Amino acid sequence: MVFSTLFSAALGLAFVPSTLGGVLPICPRDVAAVCSSLNTNFGTSIAQSTEPEYAGLRTENCVPQSPFLYRPHRSETAWRTPACIFRPSSASDLQDVVTVLVGSNTPFAIRSGGHSPDPHAANIDGGVLIDLSLFNTVTYDAINNVAVIGAGLRWGEVYSQLALHNVTVVGGRVLDVGVGGLLLGSGLSYLSDLYGLACDNVVNFEVVLADGSLVNANAVDNPELFWSLKGGGNNFGIVTAFTLTTIADRQVWGGLKLYDIEYLPDLYTAMLEYQTAAEKDLYANLMLQGFITSSGAAVQLNLIYFKDEVAPAAFAPFYSIPTTADTTTLSSFTDFLATQGPAMFPPRVDWHSSSFEPNADVYSAIHDIVTSSAELSTITGVTSGTLAFGVQPITTNLIEQGILKGGNALGLSNVNQTWHVIDLGWQSSADDTTVHTAAKTMKEDIIAAAVGESVDLDYIFANDASWDQDVFGSYGSVNIARLKAAQAIYDPTEVFQRLVPGGFKLPPTV
Ligand SMILES: Cc1cc2nc3c(=O)[nH]c(=O)nc-3n(C[C@H](O)[C@H](O)[C@H](O)COP(=O)(O)OP(=O)(O)OC[C@H]3O[C@@H](n4cnc5c(N)ncnc54)[C@H](O)[C@@H]3O)c2cc1C
Ligand SMILES: *[C@@H]1O[C@H](CO)[C@@H](O)[C@H](O)[C@H]1NC(C)=O
Ligand SMILES: *[C@@H]1O[C@H](CO)[C@@H](O)[C@H](O)[C@H]1NC(C)=O
Repeated sequence: MVFSTLFSAALGLAFVPSTLGGVLPICPRDVAAVCSSLNTNFGTSIAQSTEPEYAGLRTENCVPQSPFLYRPHRSETAWRTPACIFRPSSASDLQDVVTVLVGSNTPFAIRSGGHSPDPHAANIDGGVLIDLSLFNTVTYDAINNVAVIGAGLRWGEVYSQLALHNVTVVGGRVLDVGVGGLLLGSGLSYLSDLYGLACDNVVNFEVVLADGSLVNANAVDNPELFWSLKGGGNNFGIVTAFTLTTIADRQVWGGLKLYDIEYLPDLYTAMLEYQTAAEKDLYANLMLQGFITSSGAAVQLNLIYFKDEVAPAAFAPFYSIPTTADTTTLSSFTDFLATQGPAMFPPRVDWHSSSFEPNADVYSAIHDIVTSSAELSTITGVTSGTLAFGVQPITTNLIEQGILKGGNALGLSNVNQTWHVIDLGWQSSADDTTVHTAAKTMKEDIIAAAVGESVDLDYIFANDASWDQDVFGSYGSVNIARLKAAQAIYDPTEVFQRLVPGGFKLPPTV
């Protein structure tokens, strides 16, 4: 830390001793001075608001150099005005800058793929935005069957790099999504029933901690940090690279079936049958999603069978329902994923998550809520108002795989379950509150239906949760206590609570 101490002394900044317990007061600060000093020392990796690349990086929308390095925040709700933007190209630069930010009490945000629609999760007004997009390499280790994946990559780039070696990983279902946020929020993959959540397949995290040190977290080194990062979001450090177990690519059967909305009740019935089969086939995976706007509606079933077999029995409950389109075909898993590009959706996004055990009456209640509630009219009544609603079936094998691979912080109940999501899209910031409030009511009505049938579950899937949902609360008090204990070791002055305001946060120390 010699360099950093000198550096902050040169800045005239008081150094905050990291040995102080409890929450430190935030001293008056001058972020502009911090930015201009960082600019002197880190030149091209700092974008100041006066520099041409700033506008593109603020929204990540305008710099067209590479389809994978510069993509918009998925949602315009996340466009902010940081004082400056730091794009580290090495872990050591990141370590030095973290030390300066902590020493000067400068608020900051951490961004990987920018796919969280939460307005403040991965961007910041007035503070420093740390953009990880230059941590963009994939290194495959064929001997150990692992790949080291840069935290700023999108899944599409990961899959295409790994395809050169005929392997894949348990990762995102949509190519455009970022590696960092998906893995730290747990990560639901088409392979999760077989192999567990994406985070369960991480064997090492390389992390910059609040004190500027760079550490590995795995089953042997820093095991409590390893456990905590599997669901811990941005509460413990900045992850620079993830090492994931690789899986041989293979021929699979999969694609998309489209339906008229009138078949939604039949699709829920088929879903329940699929989820409650005596022996659920773990190679089968799917997601059912409906879309409603003021001008139309449709239902889409994404399905994938991780074997070289056409129309397997696992999906039998769905086969008799008439489709309007069907793209299912045999291909490699990588080629199947390549068809899962980003969907067309309006520019502003919000989503709300809930979980429950599969139940016919709950699905029937959801059907009514999503097709005929007052909230639906509110949402489809705003400009480009779009409601999407999705059923993601989760089996107990997913949960057991997580335990086998070292456990995670999520506190999942060992039952077969549904992770339900309501997605909203719309056009204008004037409608942000209207849409959020209507969707929140829909989510609460769905939870009430599940409570009414005694099948509600506490778990809130971070990657589908709205900014006001209590994700960490849903992990349960035992896991929160364990996370707080890890925090006391790895971030004793709670830098990631005080200076990184965005994203889902551990509860404060009482
Ligand atoms: C079209 C679409 C498809 C999706 N599909 C899936 C899916 O199949 N499975 C699934 O699980 N989720 C899915 N998601 C949800 C997605 O996982 C979350 O939105 C996730 O937060 C995106 O990660 P990101 O890196 O792009 O996000 P960002 O917005 O960059 O980050 C999200 C949060 O993670 C933190 N963070 C990111 N990287 C780091 C890091 N390296 N160190 C510390 N903190 C970090 C940020 O500070 C922020 O709080 C999807 C989202 C979209 C829009
Ligand atoms: C990948 O698989 C293809 C087709 O089976 C084969 O031709 C190729 O040699 C394999 N590549 C590697 C790196 O194993
Ligand atoms: C979950 O479902 C599978 C198969 O559908 C079944 O074998 C298993 O017993 C169920 N688990 C529990 C805890 O009910």
